Amino acid sequence: MSEAGLVGGRARVGVIVPAAGSGVRLGEDSPKAFVDLGGSTILEHCVSGIAGAGIDAFVVVVVPAELVAHARELLPGVTVVPGGAHRSESVRAGLAACADADVILVHDAARPLTPPGVFRRVVDAVVAGHQAVVPGLPVADTLKRVVPGSTNAERVVDTVDREPLRAVSTPQGFTREALLRAHADNEGLATDDAGLAERCGIDVAVVPGDPLGFKITTQWDLRIARMLVS
Ligand code: CTP
Ligand code: MG
Repeated sequence: MSEAGLVGGRARVGVIVPAAGSGVRLGEDSPKAFVDLGGSTILEHCVSGIAGAGIDAFVVVVVPAELVAHARELLPGVTVVPGGAHRSESVRAGLAACADADVILVHDAARPLTPPGVFRRVVDAVVAGHQAVVPGLPVADTLKRVVPGSTNAERVVDTVDREPLRAVSTPQGFTREALLRAHADNEGLATDDAGLAERCGIDVAVVPGDPLGFKITTQWDLRIARMLVS
């Protein structure tokens, strides 16, 4: 379907949830998506957040191969496929199971508290004609460029103007064509899908994100998330 074809018509929305990482930085016994967050897993929170976002989406969850059966038990009715060694490979595994979608969102399982409004803003912007859309927030801290390496005291090169910078999160939304092209042109790896799209010349738009869309990466983040759901 062309971009123009999405406007006015009812877009079929697919959401790929990469959840196949091991969570090394979190350092728990189980892979991050399967860690408890107030009585259910981070992954279950994430999937129920998508279900409650009012976007009527088909969801594909991508988990470590050895946890596919377990994830299917946790998430009855949800499509679950095995992921790869890198996030981009996991997204490509999800993409293969998303054949019927016109608009595809990629949303990290590690962002289980993302509010409904973020999903809607991203879907609306894709339906309105943007090929690739990411949620982003202004950066609050002052940013210094340093000479990396020294663990004790790194030398500052300069202070970066933060005004035009945005810290971006997920869900990242794409027309089906844009996401396929981003992943076809890049065997390569990137920390986000919009980065792959940029590399093949696709325009990426930023819509307002939300602080609740933060990613659980470290124990600190897990503590905050547990406080927020308690
Ligand atoms: N992810 C994935 N497949 C991978 C690696 C990551 O599906 N091979 C997913 C993670 O499960 C997570 C999201 O991509 O939902 C963002 O990755 P990140 O926060 O880096 O999670 P992990 O890779 O699990 O954590 P770490 O890098 O600390 O090991
Ligand atoms: Mg990782």
